[in-house]
Amino acid sequence: MHQKFSHRAQVLKSSAIREILKVTEQPDIISFAGGLPAPDAFPLTEIKTATDTVLQSKDIYGALQYGPTEGYAPLRQWIADYLSARDQTAVKPAQVLIVTGSQQALDLIGKMLIDSDDKVLVETPTYLGALQAFNQYAPEYIAIESDSEGLKPETISDDVAAEAKFLYTIPNFQNPTGRRLTESRRQTLVAKAKHNHLILVEDDPYGDLDYQGHRLPCLYSLAPENTIYLGSFSKILTPGLRLGFIVASEQFIGKLVQLKQAADLHTPSLTQYIAYQVLSKNNFLTHHIPKIREIYAKRCQYMLDSLKRYMPRQVHWNQPEGGMFIWVELPENINATELLSDAISQKVAFVPGETFYAHAEKTNCFRLAFVTVPEEKIERGIKILAEMINHRIHHLQEKTVMM
Ligand SMILES: Cc1ncc(COP(=O)(O)O)c(C=O)c1O
Repeated sequence: MHQKFSHRAQVLKSSAIREILKVTEQPDIISFAGGLPAPDAFPLTEIKTATDTVLQSKDIYGALQYGPTEGYAPLRQWIADYLSARDQTAVKPAQVLIVTGSQQALDLIGKMLIDSDDKVLVETPTYLGALQAFNQYAPEYIAIESDSEGLKPETISDDVAAEAKFLYTIPNFQNPTGRRLTESRRQTLVAKAKHNHLILVEDDPYGDLDYQGHRLPCLYSLAPENTIYLGSFSKILTPGLRLGFIVASEQFIGKLVQLKQAADLHTPSLTQYIAYQVLSKNNFLTHHIPKIREIYAKRCQYMLDSLKRYMPRQVHWNQPEGGMFIWVELPENINATELLSDAISQKVAFVPGETFYAHAEKTNCFRLAFVTVPEEKIERGIKILAEMINHRIHHLQEKTVMM
């Protein structure tokens, strides 16, 4: 039957890479593809105890009932207090909206700000899930040049900044590159945003995962008037709770509340109550976050060591200071999407870089996620990839000589 899909639904495409990556769920594949947090860092005992507490307390009816769209008041208060202390900035609970994962925040922000053909500034590369969320509202993306220190704010002209609806950025341990925006670039970006009334959408799910515990100021703390800040509990508690939050001016929050009401009324009450129980006990995050950092830093180092040991000298990668990803750059003429098809036949997977570009402008790079892979598999997987890349480099060199 002919389906009467809306234009918006018709233009959605299932990515070819997603199809390939379905294979990576097979147990015998060494997958560096999924950007999942490590289950061994989940606070199982605390979540179990908190769930029992909620279910046995008089709060049970609140936890099982419809709740306010803005979110569970004690959790909003907790978030406001946490951010005010962590970032030395004043956040009021009225500026906090709890969302069903920060992915929902991206969709709501797209709905709130983008009319078709509006200009949206993005990093190169950027988070695929943000492109998917914004694509529904048909913006025109302007790709901002980026390097190992993050986006280059000096390349954004005042005209472009003034005309754009917003700039979307992940300043800390970016997905997909693992890069962190330097402090001086943060200052330059914020000055540009203030000067041109540019809205900054700061997506920060990895900010707490700096291995050395050395935070850089968030854009929100530098320019609260210009910034919509997105936080997530997926990487510091568990993603299954589906809890994230938006911090912004009350004017933005009011509009986002209206949009969220239409989308899902509110984020599940039960998970908000459970998260609040966990977070509010004995400064939970001050003990828990260092444990996650330790696990992630160790696996990151293991992968860096394996890359160093096996990769040919023509291959380059970054040394992340936090987060879950390493970005690998191949010689120009090696296509990472083609490499993936071969890698899968040898039971190794990664995400090719071109999916993370608004205009698919680069094909010789890929993302490695290391936190869910046991150490012996990290080494084996990298060795297999390195052999394949080496083979391609030699093949290309032979071709050049023959020509
Ligand atoms: C940069 C970025 N933003 C948002 C999300 C979505 O996270 P959440 O689980 O909070 O919806 C992710 C998930 O991986 C991400 O990497």
